[in-house]
Amino acid sequence: MRLRLYRHRKMLRALLFFAFALICVVFAGPVEPVFGNTDGVTSIFRPLSQPAQEIKELSLLVLAICGAIFVVVAGLLVYAIVRFRHRAGDEASEPPQVYGSNQIELAWTVLPLLIVFVLILVTSRTIADIQNRQAPPSAVHATVIGHQWWWEIRYPELGIVTANELHVPTTDGGESRPTFIKLQSADVAHSFWVPLLAGKTDLVPNRENLMWIAPTRPGIYLGNCAEYCGTQHARMLIRVVVQPPDEFQQWVRDQQQSAAIGTSSAEGRKTFFATSCVNCHTISGTAAQGQFGPDLTHLMSRTTLAAGAAPNTPESLRKWIRDPQSIKVGSLMPNMQLTDAEVDQVVAYLQTLK
Ligand code: CUA
Repeated sequence: MRLRLYRHRKMLRALLFFAFALICVVFAGPVEPVFGNTDGVTSIFRPLSQPAQEIKELSLLVLAICGAIFVVVAGLLVYAIVRFRHRAGDEASEPPQVYGSNQIELAWTVLPLLIVFVLILVTSRTIADIQNRQAPPSAVHATVIGHQWWWEIRYPELGIVTANELHVPTTDGGESRPTFIKLQSADVAHSFWVPLLAGKTDLVPNRENLMWIAPTRPGIYLGNCAEYCGTQHARMLIRVVVQPPDEFQQWVRDQQQSAAIGTSSAEGRKTFFATSCVNCHTISGTAAQGQFGPDLTHLMSRTTLAAGAAPNTPESLRKWIRDPQSIKVGSLMPNMQLTDAEVDQVVAYLQTLK
C-alpha cells in the first residue's frame, strides 16, 4: 500500500513537470526580446523571406511525422496503463512473456528505418537547395563579424562599415536582389539568427560561413545571437532593416559620406580625441581608427546602442558613456571616468555623427 502511494506520487510529479514544460514552451514564443519589437513575436512559422519559407515547409513535414509517431506511441502507452492497471484481486505473478516474434521484430526495425530515410532525403534536399544558391549579379554582399557582444557589419563593395543594424533591399517579383552574407567571428563562436528570414548560421573563429536572405516585405526584423558566447549573449541583438530599393540606395549614399565635422561641438570633439575612445572606435576621415568597438562614423543613423540593449537617445548615450556596465553588465567598453561636463560634451559631439 505504501509502495503504491509512493509510485502514484512519483507519477504525479512527472506529470506536473511535463505540464510545466509544456506551458513554458507555449509561452516562450510571446515573450518580447528586450524592447522595441515593432512586429510582435519573431517566429519560424510565419517566414517572410527565402530561405525561411523553405525551412518552414520542411519543419511542418518533420513535425507532422514526429507528431503522428508521438500520438501513436503515447496513445498505446495510455491505453496500456489504463487497460492493464493494477486491480484488487490481481495475482502477483508475472503475466505471460512473448519472445522472438519475427514479424514484430521486423516491423519495428524496418518502419523506423523507412521513416528516418524519408526525413534524411527531404532534409538534404532542402539543405542542398539553400546552400547551392549562387549570387546573381544584382546581389548585395555583406560581411557580418561577431564580437562579444555586438555585430560588425561591412559592405566591402560599397565601402560601408556599420554595426548591429543590417540594411538590405527588398526582393520583389521583378528584380531578384538577395543579400549574401559572409559570417566571421572576432573572438568566440556566435550564431546569426533572424527567425523570419533564415535559419541559424554560426560565426566560427578562423572560418567563414555563408548564408543568404531574400526578404520581400520592408520592415525591421529582429534576431538574436543564438550560440552562447558569454555574459551578454542574451543582449546581442541584431536588426535587419529591409527597405525598398530606392530607400536602400539612399541609405547607401548617406553611409558613404565621411563623418560630419561639426563646429557646434568642438569641445566634445576635443575630449573624444583626447581620451582612449579613439583606440577602439573608428570615425572615418579622422584620427580615430580603432577596430575593437563599433564604427561610429554614422552612429546617429542607428536606432539602438550596445547591440539593441538601449534605444539610441541622448539620455541612454549619456548613461552608456558614463557607465557602460549600468546598461550592459560585462560590456568590454571601459568606463572612461569622464566628468559630467565631459560626458555632455562627448554626447554632443557624437550627436553630430549623422
Ligand atoms: Cu554572440 Cu551569443
